[in-house]
Amino acid sequence: MRYGHFDDARREYVITHPDTPLPWINYLGSEEYFGIISNTAGGYSFYRDARLRRLTRYRYNNAPLDVGGRYVYLRDDASGDFWSPSWQPTQRELEDYACRHGLGYSIISSRYQGISAETLYFVPGGETLEIWLVRVTNERAEPAKLSLFSSIEFCLWDAQDDATNFQRNYSVGEVEVEDGVIYHKTEYRERRDHFAFFACSEPLAGFDTQRDAFLGPYRSWDRPIAVERGASSNSIAHGWQPSGSHHVRLEIGPGETKEVIFLLGYAENPRDAKFDPPGSQTIDKRLVRPTIDRYLQPAVVAEAFEALRARWTDLLGICQAQTGNEHVDRMVNVWNPYQCMVTFNMSRSASLFESGIGRGMGFRDTSQDLLGFVHMIPSRARERLIDVASTQLPTGGAYHQYQPLTKRGNNDVGSRFNDDPAWLVLAVAAYLKETGDTSILDVAVPYDNRPGTERPLYEHLQRSIVYTLERRGPHGLPLIGRADWNDCLNLNCFSETPGESFQTTENRSGGVAESVFIAGLFVLAANDLAEIAALRGDGAEAARCISAAAEMRDVVAQHGWDGAWFRRAYDFYGRPVGSAENDEGQIFIEPQGMCIMAGIGLDDGRARVALDSVRQRLATPHGIVVLQPAFTRYHLHLGEISTYPGGYKENAGVFCHTNPWVMIAETRVGNGDGALDYYLRINPSAREDLSEIHRGEPYVYAQMIAGKDAATPGEAKNTWLTGTAAWNFTAISQWILGIRPEHAGLRIDPCVPAAWGDFTLTRRFRGATYRIAVRKHAGASGRVTRLRVDGRTVGGNLAPLPASPGADIEVEAFVEATP
Ligand code: GLC
Ligand code: GLC
Repeated sequence: MRYGHFDDARREYVITHPDTPLPWINYLGSEEYFGIISNTAGGYSFYRDARLRRLTRYRYNNAPLDVGGRYVYLRDDASGDFWSPSWQPTQRELEDYACRHGLGYSIISSRYQGISAETLYFVPGGETLEIWLVRVTNERAEPAKLSLFSSIEFCLWDAQDDATNFQRNYSVGEVEVEDGVIYHKTEYRERRDHFAFFACSEPLAGFDTQRDAFLGPYRSWDRPIAVERGASSNSIAHGWQPSGSHHVRLEIGPGETKEVIFLLGYAENPRDAKFDPPGSQTIDKRLVRPTIDRYLQPAVVAEAFEALRARWTDLLGICQAQTGNEHVDRMVNVWNPYQCMVTFNMSRSASLFESGIGRGMGFRDTSQDLLGFVHMIPSRARERLIDVASTQLPTGGAYHQYQPLTKRGNNDVGSRFNDDPAWLVLAVAAYLKETGDTSILDVAVPYDNRPGTERPLYEHLQRSIVYTLERRGPHGLPLIGRADWNDCLNLNCFSETPGESFQTTENRSGGVAESVFIAGLFVLAANDLAEIAALRGDGAEAARCISAAAEMRDVVAQHGWDGAWFRRAYDFYGRPVGSAENDEGQIFIEPQGMCIMAGIGLDDGRARVALDSVRQRLATPHGIVVLQPAFTRYHLHLGEISTYPGGYKENAGVFCHTNPWVMIAETRVGNGDGALDYYLRINPSAREDLSEIHRGEPYVYAQMIAGKDAATPGEAKNTWLTGTAAWNFTAISQWILGIRPEHAGLRIDPCVPAAWGDFTLTRRFRGATYRIAVRKHAGASGRVTRLRVDGRTVGGNLAPLPASPGADIEVEAFVEATP
């Protein structure tokens, strides 16, 4: 069953049933001010850091799940009847309910008793505020007298403290109300120079800033007393729960529409200009007031919204495909890049499943997120690469995470995840291929953010490679450390203490557990660094990398092959993991994808054998599971992976992040049918008809879909913030559709289903626009062997770099007629 539909022309998903299986969310903002918003207006906002600068409250894991939001209420002042046009929290039966989640905005609309209401929520570019534009239309034959109430609940900034430290927090809340604007200024008197504001475009009939005055004792958001009685109480919060609500009276003639604008925003004052008059404790509003006044004007709001739409048209224009497959086109052209933007901004911090207080930015997560983002805003990717590399340790190793506000490595999760450094090489390589900006390699970047340790970024990459080479085990494979990509394969951990974190607890010393996965990743990274070294004319380094990669490939061939697939690892005792010798967990997905992506097994046929094993043992209609057979009990020597019930998460769930590796592997062996088949199994649009099973949003990838051993196979969790976004974009755009930036040009190497005919692609690259027509007979399953570039024939499949920026380059790519 579906709960809505795609509106491809407007680039929106239109939810038409408010009671979706889970809250279906969207993101507001993409620079410094962010929010999440559900299809019924639940969610919260923050400035830069979801933990440390949280503006509004949201109650995770509540019943119902989605509590706290940007709610407006309408009240018919003649009858006293009131409702939420976003359905929640009052849950009145609405007509024509629709939530249009678009790119950086959401529009929620409905009709109740002849009154239509539509609210547009978005963050204007360059600002630290969000706009709620409410349009109320009277579709009745008589005039209507209505009351409109806004409502939010302020968070006392640090979301972690806010949710735990009640002995203090019930006494510190402070607000000001001036000229109809509600200012939230808790702790402004002392070390905070920031405050929040909540403004309204209309004269107020009243306001509330004390939550319980607005709701009434023992009431919840579904029937606030102020709304029920049609009058606010002009409450001023002193401690307890500061909140914000405006009350506006509207008289609307038949057929008439009234617009009301609410603004919620964040502002900072210079420390020496905090108070007005100086010496008082009153916020100096002179800096913020012009911004508020500006955005309370409908024309300014309209213009800002158009600018947001235009911004996305431009960003999405960088890579567009017209393949005729709607699931491919809408994910490639709209939703997948959008999700990549969100993962770039949020890392794993704020979603329905990530509370915003849990983690910083992951070293490996962020590096991989860049793969799907770098083509959109390379300058921001560059900055991020420097930030990440600045947290690298002098050994070449990495803190597993760093804090976005301080940009410092975070010792909470420690280090020694031995895959971490290699991802940095992949990310820098992707940046260089996209931009050609080799100057980044010479940027002086510190280690562990310590002044005086700055070395060229290039050297950081070299140390990443050395890190792996210096940490090899008895078979010559890389030591796994705490874990590799799979956080839950903890081969040196041996945890027997309840509640202890598998990621941070002291590992058993003397561990020699090795990872075949890191070996594959290393080969990719070393080859990338070899190319980078060659670009710099550093032939010696290039040669070193090439031979290190070759040597590692041999080690994998010798010790990483199990007979019909690649092994996963060797455990603490040197026994194989992911082998036919094991009772459970005989085959894992990660090394199949990673080793074949790295080219291992292509020349000796093992790649195909491994992929056959994947198809037979791991593939399900809902995607490819991590491993089989699932672990049915806790294995002390394997760690967290065996704590999950079978079919969930790392224990044989469809961990979607890994699926594109297998798709890419399929293209490496020339199986376009197989690659696209896997792609469509986890493509959210292709799963839209299964929404009651999938349960997550049909417009974004999920981290995990429950596997075949689960009680709920096909059920998605952890949507939005997942490396799946970047990797699926890479798999479909670069390997299946085959448009791949390289140092020397744009590779055009599609590997698509045989049945496909011609298709077209547009790719902006290095300042030029490549308009690519793939000429292919339906039935042909070969590769592109010849191009015509601006009328001239080029052998092979590499379209050269543009001769001049701004060029429009016509490319025809001819797929061999016979397989
Ligand atoms: C989560 C983590 C990621 C890890 C994956 C597999 O998605 O964010 O870093 O690789 O789980 O354990
Ligand atoms: C990753 C994994 C998750 C695990 C967590 C540990 O996010 O996906 O399963 O519990 O790491 O912090």
